[in-house]
Amino acid sequence: MKKANLKSEEMKAVRDDILALTNSPLYDFRVENGYFPVVGEGNLDAHIVFVGEAPGKNEAEKDRPFCGASGRILDELLASIGMDRAKVYITNLVKDRPPENRDPSRDEIALYAPFLDRQIAIIEPRIIATLGRHPMKYIFERFGLSSKLKPISQIHGKGFKATGPHGEVTIIALYHPAAALYNGSIKKDLVKDFKILKKYV
Ligand code: URA
Repeated sequence: MKKANLKSEEMKAVRDDILALTNSPLYDFRVENGYFPVVGEGNLDAHIVFVGEAPGKNEAEKDRPFCGASGRILDELLASIGMDRAKVYITNLVKDRPPENRDPSRDEIALYAPFLDRQIAIIEPRIIATLGRHPMKYIFERFGLSSKLKPISQIHGKGFKATGPHGEVTIIALYHPAAALYNGSIKKDLVKDFKILKKYV
């Protein structure tokens, strides 16, 4: 495992590179609104990394992932299996807020995904849990699991073993917590899937 000070230096370099990303289509929107890019938060030695889609307004204002309504659901789900943010690492596929919370574009994903790759290489997690469709697609493809990709309703909560640059990793697709805000059955699925997740930690 890498030393703690090396990990924090490398993560700081990721942050600096994202801050300097003036060629991003989301850069002007960031600056005009006084937003932050949301790099990620948590334990650099975490066994598990959660990957959301992109920051919303609250997140971009506060420089914290999942700190709005969907973050409260995520905290509740973590607490339901005896975990909290200090034990995990939480980040997003796209680091800047897309206007009106629209889906990130293919180009935006291509531009920001290498930062996520670097973060995963720094943390070397045993488990990567994706939150929502976009991070699911990216991570499955990145880790050689394209043939396992199906609609999230068919593969959520299932662990898929893959080999990453740092060794074996289990990938689990989860629904995005925002989907549980107004849909009780998705909330129930998330609660069940977190129980499964716990078994891998
Ligand atoms: N939704 C996300 O995908 N990420 C966040 O950080 C907040 C909401």
